[in-house]
Amino acid sequence: MTRHSVVPGQSWTPEGYARNAGFVAALGEPVVTLLAPRPGERILDVGCGDGVLTAKLAAIGADVVGIDASPELVKAAQDRGLDARLLDAHSMAFEQEFDAVFSNAALHWMADPARVVANVFRGLRPGGRFVGEFGGKGNVRLITEALLAALARRGVDDRRAFPWYFPDAEDFSGLLRRSGFTIERMELFERPTPLPTAIEGWLATFGGPFLGRIAEAERPGLVTEVVGDLAPRLRDADGVWRADYVRLRFAAIRP
Ligand code: BEZ
Repeated sequence: MTRHSVVPGQSWTPEGYARNAGFVAALGEPVVTLLAPRPGERILDVGCGDGVLTAKLAAIGADVVGIDASPELVKAAQDRGLDARLLDAHSMAFEQEFDAVFSNAALHWMADPARVVANVFRGLRPGGRFVGEFGGKGNVRLITEALLAALARRGVDDRRAFPWYFPDAEDFSGLLRRSGFTIERMELFERPTPLPTAIEGWLATFGGPFLGRIAEAERPGLVTEVVGDLAPRLRDADGVWRADYVRLRFAAIRP
């Protein structure tokens, strides 16, 4: 298995993910609705994580396979009784096996999205659908800018720290069409997202690619700085933090 899509500095623990990012699956419910899974359908969940949404597809009666590049999260999904496999979406080689491919909050981690989309296309049967949601253009812009500014103040070159793919609707539509898909729906929208464990929890779970660029002893100071920078913009009067999420939601068909 190639591991090139695993972002440097990013690691997961199922407990930390559930505590700091449980909202990811909860807010993914509309994507399940858009997918409209039917009992007996064979469905692939790309980037299944700890399997919370994969389990919902299975509960509807679909025959679901989940894949993820994180061994810890795949183990957590397997512990739910799911068919979850440690597999990088860049190297999957399914051939016309699925009625649908589903993906929530995973495609922005892909280093080579064109390759992943081509693999999804190949894995679908003719008439099969590809339905998903991930970070779109402008996603976590304020958070990212605060992190990059704090790194720059420490003399760290910011360009290599940005780990995600956040396309706009036009770019991602073009990429899907070039693989052969017909677009049924493509929507970019802001979704300010309440953070159950404040910005500190978000940074602990997702800040690794940035924090990993400096020595461990310096990280608490950087986090304090970033929190101070973001509080006026992302924390409301009641102390609730909302991340500046932007989602790209889509549905496409393999003709
Ligand atoms: C997202 O779901 O948009 C996201 C999560 C973690 C890091 C970056 C983006």
